[in-house]
Amino acid sequence: MQQPTLLYFEDEEALAQQLALVSGMPLQCIERHTFPDGETRLRLPTDLPERVVVLRSLHSPNTRIMDLLLAAPTARELGARHLTLVSPYLAYMRQDMAFRPGEAVSQRLVGRWLAELFEAVITIDPHLHRVHRLQDAVPADQALALSAAPLLAERVFREQADALLIGPDGESAQWIEQAARAHGFDHGVCHKTRHGDKDVAIQLPDVPVRGRCVVLLDDIASSGRTLVQASRLLLEAGARSVYVAVTHALFAGDAEQVIRSAGVRHIWSTDSVAHSSNVVSVAPLIAQGLQELARC
Ligand code: R5P
Repeated sequence: MQQPTLLYFEDEEALAQQLALVSGMPLQCIERHTFPDGETRLRLPTDLPERVVVLRSLHSPNTRIMDLLLAAPTARELGARHLTLVSPYLAYMRQDMAFRPGEAVSQRLVGRWLAELFEAVITIDPHLHRVHRLQDAVPADQALALSAAPLLAERVFREQADALLIGPDGESAQWIEQAARAHGFDHGVCHKTRHGDKDVAIQLPDVPVRGRCVVLLDDIASSGRTLVQASRLLLEAGARSVYVAVTHALFAGDAEQVIRSAGVRHIWSTDSVAHSSNVVSVAPLIAQGLQELARC
């Protein structure tokens, strides 16, 4: 079977290059122009094969979703018959119910749009909470959720083998337990209550932290307040040092600054979203995922 072409946007060239290298897919760029009024013009390569993979992480999601709304049908007009979206960070997964009457259930709506545009969708550590399977949130023919937590845990183990691994909230328990099983880390999970975008209350787990090097492991750092609050409590409780390992380094606004000011010694992240803290590449993981889908 002919290799699919990997289409990418210029601002994700680093990950695209890595992915092309490990997967052997030929790489072509989608040209993107923003008009003065904010509208987007895309230009795709005109020599597309039957199978196309589009790489688009959905941080700063609103313009990037528009990129996909324009790119996918254009790829079909240019001859593509099978489209796979590789979205290492998949946005809008947290609003999985109407918390107050009248709220849009964004997870369901965005998931449906993507499923209408693409035959297959691959992502990494999507924030699935009340909806457990990616396929239920994104009902494409194929929907594959990969996890970068084992890669991050490996990195943590190399740097701080005796770390106490802490998840800042209930949702992180899955990654904490997996990492603890693989490397024998002592571990625990906090209880978190969110009162607002930048207002979270955290309760530490009942594990001794005094004198320990603690690594907070989570899927997303967005406003950074979850990590700030957890770090402060850990340091107040006598932790020797606090490090952070996250899959998706969104770091909105002043997030990185407030995390560092809270006393976090170092931040490790994956390149699912390009950021200066990236130390783990998700390209090999995505390449495996693409192979897995191709076999089905
Ligand atoms: C939510 O439960 C996620 O696992 C993250 O903990 C959360 O999205 C982080 O958000 P923020 O950085 O804004 O506190």
